[in-house]
This record gives sequence, structure tokens and C-alpha cells, in this order.
Amino acid sequence: MIAREITEDILSISAIDWDRRLFDELVPLPEGTSYNSYLVKGSEKNALIDTAYPPMTAEYIAALKATGIRKLDYIIADHGEQDHTGSIPAVLEIFPDAMVVTNAKCKDMITEALPVAEDKFIVVEDGQTISLGDKTLQFFLTPWVHWPDTMCTYIAEDKILFSCDFFGSHVAGSDLFATNEALVEDAAKRYYAEIMMPFRSFIRQHLEKLAPLQIDFIAPSHGPVYSRPAFILDLYKEWASDVAKKEVVIAYVSMYDNTTKMVDYLTDRLMEKGLSVKRFNMVGVDTGQFTKALVDASTVVFATPTVLTGPHPSVVTGIYLLHVLKAKTKFVAVVNSYGWSGNLADRIKDMLPKLKAQLRYLDPVLVKGLPKENDYKALDRLADEIYLANNPAS
Ligand SMILES: Cc1cc2nc3c(=O)[nH]c(=O)nc-3n(C[C@H](O)[C@H](O)[C@H](O)COP(=O)(O)O)c2cc1C
Ligand SMILES: [Fe+2]
Ligand SMILES: [Fe+2]
Repeated sequence: MIAREITEDILSISAIDWDRRLFDELVPLPEGTSYNSYLVKGSEKNALIDTAYPPMTAEYIAALKATGIRKLDYIIADHGEQDHTGSIPAVLEIFPDAMVVTNAKCKDMITEALPVAEDKFIVVEDGQTISLGDKTLQFFLTPWVHWPDTMCTYIAEDKILFSCDFFGSHVAGSDLFATNEALVEDAAKRYYAEIMMPFRSFIRQHLEKLAPLQIDFIAPSHGPVYSRPAFILDLYKEWASDVAKKEVVIAYVSMYDNTTKMVDYLTDRLMEKGLSVKRFNMVGVDTGQFTKALVDASTVVFATPTVLTGPHPSVVTGIYLLHVLKAKTKFVAVVNSYGWSGNLADRIKDMLPKLKAQLRYLDPVLVKGLPKENDYKALDRLADEIYLANNPAS
């Protein structure tokens, strides 16, 4: 692990986790990740912004020592999750005079999780500043990106925003800056989808709050630093908006291919109409790919056999993700093959109560066993309905 210069006085100490493949036992990490800490050297005082993930603490402390700094005045904790606060106790061991600077909510998170004494904290409010001499740290509370405790730290003199999880991407790479924008866009979108999407209205507020700041660099706590902030700010504006794209996500499973036949037919009809279709067989799906598709899509089709009176459990995962991530989806349709019973469309509706006001349910296609001629007609009708819902003026 090494420290690298963003500017002469601001170093990135990034714990690059090349091999990690799952975050929080939940989020797949095809590109690995990094836990970024930043050392800010002022004319009078030094500050460390966030630390590292507990398993990487020994290497992190070695890299911090290798910078040659002799004193540390502040450890800024932007967010209480352990991937950023986990190494604070170890930093305090080598710099016992340093104070942990954070907001009240984050202090609470840290004291509940880590052995950091009450008198080691300086609690800051929204907008408050702390001087390092020639640099001023300013704190902006930005709750819910990722937890209720999250804040950003800004240095006006260097026009740099330390945004913690906000704008982050799970990428393990040697690039200090986001030079490979295509790679970073994909990773940042995956990150947004799984971590940020439920908080779209907060994100819109935070983007407005940060808009007056002059920003040359955004330094997040995961992934590379943005030296072209407009790149990620514009993407976040688009993702967090209520404007959906004319895209259809089909989340499906089939045990005996009855449902697959309908999904294949529907896919063809939608493609004939020029609609963009993203299909996910939900058995063993990469939830990152699936949720990434939910960021933009106007329409989600759940296609599933009935299993023990409900949707197949792998499709339940998709329904659950749509529900908890509160995607901007406008239209939902259900395609179902059953053996003997039930109205699965109502069951699925009941599983999406948070989206009640925003969703319009299209007429479901519920089929006993193998789809027959009439069922294919019903799928033609569904394809028309999806097209019209997405092209209201036509
Ligand atoms: C494990 C299992 C549980 C099932 N539970 C139900 C059920 O509760 N109600 C029902 O109507 N059909 C049930 N079925 C029948 C399937 O829904 C039916 O065979 C359907 O056509 C399968 O569609 P597929 O070929 O797309 O898998 C069940 C089938 C299996 C294998
Ligand atoms: Fe987090
Ligand atoms: Fe994080």
C-alpha cells in the first residue's frame, strides 16, 4: 500500500482490495474495491480523512507511517461504517493526541462499534469549519449517502470534496484518477444502484446543496478520484432524477420452460417495436447487473411460475430488490405459468407496497401450464400495452 499525491499537500492512501468479491456479504464486486483515506497537510495542522477497512489496518498504518508525518491533529470520520472507521483505533495508538472529528450521528455509530473514548471526539455541525492553517476543512451533512450519519468534507483552498461513499465506485485499480471513464461509470452505476438508489430524493437535495461549491476534485472513499467532477455529477443527476428510459427489464425464472417460452415470445415482440429489453434469468443472477438495469428502466416484467402459491423465490429476490431500492420504475407487468391455482399478479402487487403510488400495473398474462394460442395473443396485447405506456403520444 502506498501514499500518492493528489496535490502537493493532499495524499491518497488507498487500501486496494484486489481480491474482494462480495461487499457486506451482499454486493458483488467484479472489479474488487478500495477503501480510500486522505492525508491533508496544512501549514499548522494535519488531518486524516477517513481510514481503512479493519483487515487492512496493518498495511494501512505502515503506509501512513511511510508518509513521514510526525503529528496528526484530526481524524475526520465522514461515515461510521467500519470500512472507513475500522482503523481509527490503530491510528489513535500511533497518534494519541489526534482528535476524531465527526457529526453527532456518526459519533454515536463509532462509539457503539469501536473502542474510541468519548473525550476523543470533536462534534461538528452542518457547515462548520476547522482550520489547518492554510487550509480549511468544511463539513456538509449529507444524510443517507450511505447511512444517516454521512457527511462530506470540503477544502475550499484546493477545491476538493471528500465525498465518502457518495459518488463512490467499487474498483480495485492502480489509477489514482478516474481516467478510464467507461470502466468507472459502470462501477459507479452498480454502486449507485445497490447503495444509493433508495435515497434518490436525498441525493437530489445533496446535489443542490453542493452545487454552489467550486470543485476541481471529488475524492470518494471507494474507487478512483474524479479530476473531472462533472462526469460523475452529471451521471448522478440523471440517475437520481424521476425520468425513466424506454427500457424493459424482464426478471424471470422457469422450471419446465413454460415461462421461458412466454419470455422469449414477449422479448421478440418488444424488440420488433424497437424497445430496449434487458433480460435476467434470476437464478444465480448478478444482483449488481440486475439493479444497474433498474436505475433507468421504465418497465419491469416479472415472469415466473407459481411455486407454493407465490412467485419463484429467485424472482422474489428481484421483486424485493425493486421494492427496497425504490427504483424509478413506472410500469410493472406479470407473466405467470401456474399448475392449479392463484392470481400471482395480486401477490406481486402486495410485495411492492412502497411503490404503490408510482407504479401502474399492466394487465397480467396468467397461463395454466404450457402457453397456448390465446396466451400468445395475450402476450401480443401486453407488448402493445408496454409500447403504448412508453410512447403515450403515439
Ligand atoms: C416446487 C413446485 C411448486 C409448485 N407450486 C405450485 C403452486 O403453489 N400453485 C400452482 O398453481 N402451481 C404450482 N406449481 C406448478 C407450476 O407452477 C407449473 O408447473 C408451471 O406451469 C411451471 O412453469 P415453468 O415451466 O415456467 O416452470 C409448482 C411446481 C413446482 C415444481
Ligand atoms: Fe457505507
Ligand atoms: Fe463505504
